This record gives sequence, structure tokens and C-alpha cells, in this order.
Amino acid sequence: MNNLLIPDSAIVRDVFHENDDTSTFSLQFTDAQKRLEYSFQPGQFNMLSIFGVGEAPISISSSNGSRENFTHTVRHVGSLTRMFAKLKAGDLLGVRGPYGNGWPLKQAHGKNLLIVAGGIGLAPLRPAIYNILEQPALFGKVELLYGSKNPGEMLFRHEYRQWAEQISMLLTVDDASGFDWNHNAGLVTALFDKMQSVPENTVVLSCGPEIMMKHVVKGLLARGFHSGQLYVSLERKMFCGVKKCGRCQVGSKFVCHDGPVFSYDVLENEPAEIIGVLGRE
Ligand SMILES: Cc1cc2nc3c(=O)[nH]c(=O)nc-3n(C[C@H](O)[C@H](O)[C@H](O)COP(=O)(O)OP(=O)(O)OC[C@H]3O[C@@H](n4cnc5c(N)ncnc54)[C@H](O)[C@@H]3O)c2cc1C
Ligand code: FES
Repeated sequence: MNNLLIPDSAIVRDVFHENDDTSTFSLQFTDAQKRLEYSFQPGQFNMLSIFGVGEAPISISSSNGSRENFTHTVRHVGSLTRMFAKLKAGDLLGVRGPYGNGWPLKQAHGKNLLIVAGGIGLAPLRPAIYNILEQPALFGKVELLYGSKNPGEMLFRHEYRQWAEQISMLLTVDDASGFDWNHNAGLVTALFDKMQSVPENTVVLSCGPEIMMKHVVKGLLARGFHSGQLYVSLERKMFCGVKKCGRCQVGSKFVCHDGPVFSYDVLENEPAEIIGVLGRE
């Protein structure tokens, strides 16, 4: 019987340093059969492990159209993820997955999309952006609002010119001092006053720090969006990733299995622990 907790081995093919504390790793399964079988949906995650050190849930940040290699974008915040900073091409990692549900892109066919991201939250949204860019006829107008602490922390900067050919983009930073910056300054929610998106026929995808998502939900509800249009991706500490250990449980939901993407109309019926993070005050 397959043990769901045993990872497959993957080789690091390439490392791209996005900024001082975040890197994008291009990975390839060492097993040729696994490479053929593996597929994922935008918004899903893998459990990545450094052998003998530990394991963490990390979103897949590449297009689900390319099968040979896939990427993960990791911010080096703690004991395990700081070890990722030392990885180089040729090193081996453990990979289990893909897990979770992903973004509701099929339900968004024929609709407009508003994507709101903060910091590392752009990583799980990048596969959705690629999906939209690859099949523009399936979607209406698409708008991306992205914020980070400063211009140097913005992820995937070398791709924006190409993205902007097909989608509207508004960028903002908390602090631009010391940078040549001609976009916006302030919180990502301040961009709501400048965006073109309207509630009618629009689906919202959002990922970022929970305090950001709380204000995104609040700001959009106040602008006439309803809770069923808003999808947020939650981060919780995880152990198994496969609904066995209960580590990620919040209310009646298992973030690893029922999420990480939740429609806000599902969350608002959950007890205070979720509502406290994301909900109305
Ligand atoms: C579904 C899902 C998808 C995720 N996708 C990504 C991703 O694409 N890229 C990515 O970099 N991370 C992602 N994360 C977060 C990632 O799993 C954690 O950052 C990681 O588990 C931290 O492990 P660690 O052992 O290095 O840190 P720990 O040793 O557990 O933590 C050390 C310190 O870092 C702090 N910390 C932990 N997590 C975070 C965080 N997210 N932000 C800021 N401080 C933190 C802790 O509070 C603690 O103070 C995702 C999490 C989930 C649940
Ligand atoms: S991480 Fe074990 S149940 Fe979700």
C-alpha cells in the first residue's frame, strides 16, 4: 500500500533569487514515470522536505501547462525555509503532493477576474495568471492589484511587462524610498479607489498576509461585492497535508483538504477563529 507521507525525490534544476529573502526553485522529479504522471491545478501546494531537516507546505508557482519542471517560490522565514536558501542546482528535495483544491478558475470562465495579492501571496496566484494568459478567450477583463513592502520585494518583476499586455495591473508599495518608483504608494486596498473592476460578473482571487486579506474582504464587501464572489487562500501550520492529523483544522474545515482556497461565504459561516482573522468587525 502507498504511504501518503513518503515523498518523491526531486532535483533542483535552477535557483532564481527574487530578492534578499525569497528564491524560486525549478524542480524536476528524478523518476521519469512520476514526471509523466504528475499534474496539478493553479493554487495547489506541495509538501517540500529537506531530508533529515523537515517539511513545509509551499504553493506551486509555475504554469500547470509545463509538465517536466515545476517551480516553488520560498520566503526564507524560519528554521526550515532558511535551509532552502542554501539549495543550489543539483541538490535533492522531497516532494509530496499536489494537495488542496486550487483556485476556482473553471467557475470563473466567462467572468471578469480581480486578483489581489500581497508579498509572497503572488506565488500561488502566478499559475492562475499563466492560465489566464494562455487562454484569454475563456475570461472577461482581468485586473491584478499587487502590493509589497518596497519595490525590491516585488516578486516576478521581469514578467510584468508581458503580463501587462493582457491584463490591467496596479502596483503599490508601503515604502519606495531609495528606489526609482513610478507606481503607487500605500496599502493594496488603497488601489480599490483606482481599479476598473466592478462587482457585476466578477470573481475575486486573493492571497497575502491575513491582515491584508481581512481588509480586502472588508473593502470589497463595502464596495458591493458579495461574499460568494470572494476567494481567499489561507495559510495554516500543517503536518500531514492529507487530512489525517488535524493540525490545519479551523472550525469544521481542514485547510490542507477543503482549502487552502475558500470562498468567503463558506468562511463566514465558520466560528470566530476564522471570522476573527478575515471577517467583518
Ligand atoms: C497552503 C500553504 C501554502 C504556502 N505557500 C507558500 C509559498 O508558496 N511560499 C512560501 O514562502 N511560504 C508558503 N507557505 C508558508 C510556509 O509553509 C511557511 O513559511 C513555512 O512552513 C515556515 O516553515 P519554517 O520551518 O521555515 O518556519 P518556522 O520555524 O515554523 O517559523 C519560524 C518563524 O517564522 C514565522 N513564520 C512562519 N511562517 C511564516 C510566514 N508564512 N510568514 C512570516 N513568518 C512566518 C513563525 O511565526 C516563526 O516566528 C505556505 C503555507 C501554506 C499552509
Ligand atoms: S495538515 Fe494534517 S489534517 Fe491538514
